[in-house]
Amino acid sequence: MTDTVRAFYDAIAEDYADHFRDTFAARPLDLALLAGFAGLVGAGGEVADLGCGPGWATAHLASCGLNVFGLDLSEQMLGVARRENPGLRFEQGSMREPGLPDGSLAGVVSWYSSVHAPQDELPALFAGFRRILAPGGYLLLAFQAGEEALRVERPFGHPVVLDFQRRRPEQMVNVLEAAGFTLVLRSERAADEAQGESAPQAFLIARTPHADGCS
Ligand SMILES: C[S@@+](CC[C@H](N)C(=O)[O-])C[C@H]1O[C@@H](n2cnc3c(N)ncnc32)[C@H](O)[C@@H]1O
Repeated sequence: MTDTVRAFYDAIAEDYADHFRDTFAARPLDLALLAGFAGLVGAGGEVADLGCGPGWATAHLASCGLNVFGLDLSEQMLGVARRENPGLRFEQGSMREPGLPDGSLAGVVSWYSSVHAPQDELPALFAGFRRILAPGGYLLLAFQAGEEALRVERPFGHPVVLDFQRRRPEQMVNVLEAAGFTLVLRSERAADEAQGESAPQAFLIARTPHADGCS
């Protein structure tokens, strides 16, 4: 699966960036959610944008004062991210095994990057996010809301195919809580059909317990 995802995004990286650059910047509610997350985390501790793609969310979080770096499977996506955000750090790696010390991060962001993980891999994925977060650290998830996977074939004419999972927010909350997170925010906005979206968009912020066990 990892190889398929990497090959898909390596093939489309430049076209993806050209196509979605303006729409990312034109979604005020999404930008506000990222800014709200940055306000919760606060300046200081390190934040990882896991599955950062072209680094737009990384850059927005940095502009909100976070000490943030991006990590992605796809070298071609990272090439775009480094070119467009020369002052920021981007590393190649998998969010399943990011190679980060336990308890080392103040925040983790997965902005539409858990969408290729099969449902039965989510518990391990979220347990991994919890492990690398410090006590009281914050997680931000963005994903398409819904039931059915969307199969994307030959994007921008490239001979690749990948499924994008849509999930019910309450189902994601259950998996997060089972992994030891406490829900802070659940938000959903309507599909922006004028910009090509075909499903509502869901956003969750969750927190790990404080060291004293209080949440
Ligand atoms: C839909 S794109 C979103 C990119 C970016 N967050 C954005 O919103 O523009 C999904 C990104 O997640 C990355 N990705 C998917 N699975 C990953 C994994 N296991 N580890 C690291 N990156 C992953 C892909 O390479 C791709 O860049």
